Amino acid sequence: MGRIRIVTADITRLKVDAIVNAANSTLLGGGGVDGAIHRAAGAELLAYCRTLGGCPTGEARITPGFNLPAQWIVGPVWQDGDQDEPELLRDCYLNSFKLASEQGCRTIAFPAISTGVYGYPKRNAATEALSVMGDWRDGFDEITACCFSQSDADLALCPECLMGD
Ligand code: APR
Repeated sequence: MGRIRIVTADITRLKVDAIVNAANSTLLGGGGVDGAIHRAAGAELLAYCRTLGGCPTGEARITPGFNLPAQWIVGPVWQDGDQDEPELLRDCYLNSFKLASEQGCRTIAFPAISTGVYGYPKRNAATEALSVMGDWRDGFDEITACCFSQSDADLALCPECLMGD
């Protein structure tokens, strides 16, 4: 059974098989973690993403990591859906796990998808994310929830999030 860890870090610096990007439906970059990943990976990532033709909400696409220590980037997409937010967010994690698993990845790191620009309530998002991570822990050696601030990490460690209340 793989371990789940919650860290505070810049996801572009994590030495894991796959990092997940909180992208948008164009896959052509943006701000936040999307911008950080594109800057760290280099221009080849954007060129590669241009060949993918976008990605619908809740789905994922996989790319090489280029200049990143990570081998693959899995780009789930979340628009500001006006319904089924929890299901769509879970789909982002689920489809990222599926793609990374198909590529033989054994370690994977996720940012707090949709909790920045898209304003998904952090506690709610952490509960959904940790629930899906628990479902997939047997398929990986290590699953990392990569928070960008200690306060986000502390929130993810709250009993409600960990217990799925
Ligand atoms: N490493 C880890 N986490 C990061 C990093 C980083 N380098 N940079 C930002 N984050 C965190 C944010 O603090 C937030 O908790 O990633 C989480 C997701 O925030 P956003 O990057 O704003 O992503 P999201 O809310 O999913 O919105 C996606 O924003 O940048 C655009 O193109 C992107 O349209 C898409 C939208």
